[in-house]
Amino acid sequence: MADIHQVTLTLANKSFECSESDSILKGGLRHGLALRYECSNGTCGACKAKLVTGNIEQVKHHDFSLSDDELASKVFLMCCQAPSSDLELEVDLIGDVRTIPLQEIQIKVKDIRFVSDDMAIVSVRTPRSKTLQFMAGQDVELCYKGILARYPIASCPCYGMELEFHIRKLASDDFSQAIFSKSIKSKSKIDLTGPKGVFVLKETSNKPMVFIAWDSGFAPIRSLIEHAFSLEMSNPVYFYWAYPVTESMPYLDNHAKSWQVVMDEYHYQSIACEFDRSSKNDCHKVAQQIYDSLDHKVVNQSELYISAPAEVLIYLGELLLENGLDEAQLIASPI
Ligand code: FES
Repeated sequence: MADIHQVTLTLANKSFECSESDSILKGGLRHGLALRYECSNGTCGACKAKLVTGNIEQVKHHDFSLSDDELASKVFLMCCQAPSSDLELEVDLIGDVRTIPLQEIQIKVKDIRFVSDDMAIVSVRTPRSKTLQFMAGQDVELCYKGILARYPIASCPCYGMELEFHIRKLASDDFSQAIFSKSIKSKSKIDLTGPKGVFVLKETSNKPMVFIAWDSGFAPIRSLIEHAFSLEMSNPVYFYWAYPVTESMPYLDNHAKSWQVVMDEYHYQSIACEFDRSSKNDCHKVAQQIYDSLDHKVVNQSELYISAPAEVLIYLGELLLENGLDEAQLIASPI
């Protein structure tokens, strides 16, 4: 079995364990660190770091040429080197989600799983030479033969080459219609532009974290919660998943339940909501049903992340703020 070494990022005061058989970039991303990278294969130079102490070993060839000055000051590419001892590195982490460049990548559909008559889990792959850099909770724009849509990414940034989207079939969403009519299928090519949005985790907060999703709003919440695992955050987590009462349970109920195993303090509650998609007034009703199900003592002392349709967000936000929530605690993203 390959040895494991401790990698310390001196500027960010963070450390993680990395196997001798993994690149330092892969090890860092797996631990939820916001490292800069682009290609993951030694072509772009975006993943440069400076070796302060320790030894590294090249595990992948790179075409990108480091300058003589960089080599002399022990700059290397994290996607091509693995640790062969404990390391100290100098590298800047992404501090502000807005500094991640907008990327345009052609992705390929790997698999579409229809979990019900109108809900699809779509897995895609980026090309080997281009990984999507994003932060958990962000969205992307997808375009297939001129049909545009914007969806949150459901997967964690630690697997930037494999992305997942949860797509509900809606009459108003032509992209979803193309999925369910099977115009978009395995191997279809889709243009992706992103990442977009600032629905990201407050990684330095010690407060409990309350996550609320309406239906496919689960996608960015899943990305955030799994990112919190990668970071080994020990904050208590409360997850409320509201779903249409016409379904027997939320579409990935077992997945949400399974987090119990990996978190010491995890509370999950699904909320079956009466909801008529054709009636806008029902957004009030959904917001009220979610509000009535919350443990307000917990909510008022937590960071609160909500992913729901804009109208539900507005009504639910109003209810929460009127009842003691501070605006700074609320992080919301419309789906
Ligand atoms: S060289 Fe592109 S990410 Fe490492």
